[in-house]
Amino acid sequence: MKFHQKEKKYHLFVLGCQMNRSDAERLAYVLERLGYQRTENENEANLIIVVACSVRQSAIDRILGKAGNWQKLKEKRKLVLGLTGCVLPKDKPKLEKYFDFYFEIKDLKTLPSFLGEKPIFNLEKIDNYFQITPNYNSNFQAYVPISTGCDNFCSYCAVPYTRGREISRPAEEILCEVQQLVNRGYKEITLLGQNVNSYKGQIKENGKTIPIDFPDLLRKINEIEGNFWIRFLTSHPKDMSEKLIKTIAECPKVCEYIHLPVQSGDNEILKKMNRSYTVEHYKKLIERIRQEIKNVAISTDIIVGFPTESTEQFENTKKLMEEVQFDMAYIAQYSPRPGTAAAHLKDDVSKAEKKRREKELTEVLEKTALFNNQKYLGKEVEVLVEISKKGFLYGRTRTFKPVKFKGEKNLLGQFVKVKILKCSAFSLEGELSQP
Ligand code: SAH
Ligand code: SF4
Ligand code: F3S
Repeated sequence: MKFHQKEKKYHLFVLGCQMNRSDAERLAYVLERLGYQRTENENEANLIIVVACSVRQSAIDRILGKAGNWQKLKEKRKLVLGLTGCVLPKDKPKLEKYFDFYFEIKDLKTLPSFLGEKPIFNLEKIDNYFQITPNYNSNFQAYVPISTGCDNFCSYCAVPYTRGREISRPAEEILCEVQQLVNRGYKEITLLGQNVNSYKGQIKENGKTIPIDFPDLLRKINEIEGNFWIRFLTSHPKDMSEKLIKTIAECPKVCEYIHLPVQSGDNEILKKMNRSYTVEHYKKLIERIRQEIKNVAISTDIIVGFPTESTEQFENTKKLMEEVQFDMAYIAQYSPRPGTAAAHLKDDVSKAEKKRREKELTEVLEKTALFNNQKYLGKEVEVLVEISKKGFLYGRTRTFKPVKFKGEKNLLGQFVKVKILKCSAFSLEGELSQP
């Protein structure tokens, strides 16, 4: 199945979270080392690789839909289909039959062999795929994985079965990657992990190898010289320590934005989800975060319609959202994942009821987010410019709020000051302040 040079066009179909986006950047590096050229148009590609997500059935259904179409295309022209990413063991037989090959992302260095290519020099020597240099999608914002996998086994969640146990990357490797990015002028580094704050790495100091936790890692990255922002996700409430809160507050490069998934506002449901904290503990954390970190923005993830969730239990989630006043919430309808603990429970909240609960929470969110955004009116904020379109620039504040304002393209990838004049629940608008 080896391709001629002129046929080497690849397309990546990437689903899921930032972790998959980051993996896809390493995948792109390997393919380009093999002489493949990227295309965003799947009809032009001779090689399509799917980076799968299994967090909800909808993602799997999208892959199955696409794969069916590609099968038809294959009858007409040369097309090779590869599968990697997060695939549940129970879904694998069903998915695999549509693809020519499957490889685990952590075995990325074996990809050349599936394409009939010789191994890539240097790639053979690496002992984890994070050592592969990514083809970063942007030249000023970068994802840097610090760990992968998860040991938490929340009862609804596919991740422990798709990415396996949690593995932390050695601190030197992370620091080296960040240093190189900063040297190249990168302005925003987002540290990634399913559970970043349970990071347990190692570092050599004075000839000795010593353990290093997430707050210490943040401090070390914060010490790297240069003008850049540090972000991180996702944090688990059970590992949101006092030390971490203080570290975020004390490190000027670490942005005032915390994504802290709560999933439910009801203790009984939290227990069934195996989340290992209570609503009271979560609220206490939010209080401490707001006391220590000035002007912090907080977002969360919520699942509605977990098996057995009653109307009263749902109302508890609603109450929590009203109390905490999140800046953002990613609200999902529960979707049973084959092989997880919750898959043994009856999915007993109807689709219509899940939809209704999602809508109700979205309405609460719109109110609290708007309330929070109104505090920005008349204020000047720092923004990293991300997009330029039709005379307008779009970027984000340190608190991850999208901002729109008039400006020239040459400001792309730069920090600017913007005076906020208008706001809605999920965005801000303003004008450039003169430097
Ligand atoms: N590690 C992160 C999240 C990983 S999955 C954490 O601990 O929060 C991202 C989000 O998808 C989860 O926070 C959850 O809200 C949602 N999710 C995961 N499994 C789901 C399922 N079976 N049905 C619906 N939503 C789900
Ligand atoms: Fe899934 Fe829970 Fe791990 Fe997050 S912490 S990845 S929700 S098992
Ligand atoms: Fe999906 Fe895997 Fe991320 S299951 S959400 S792509 S870790």
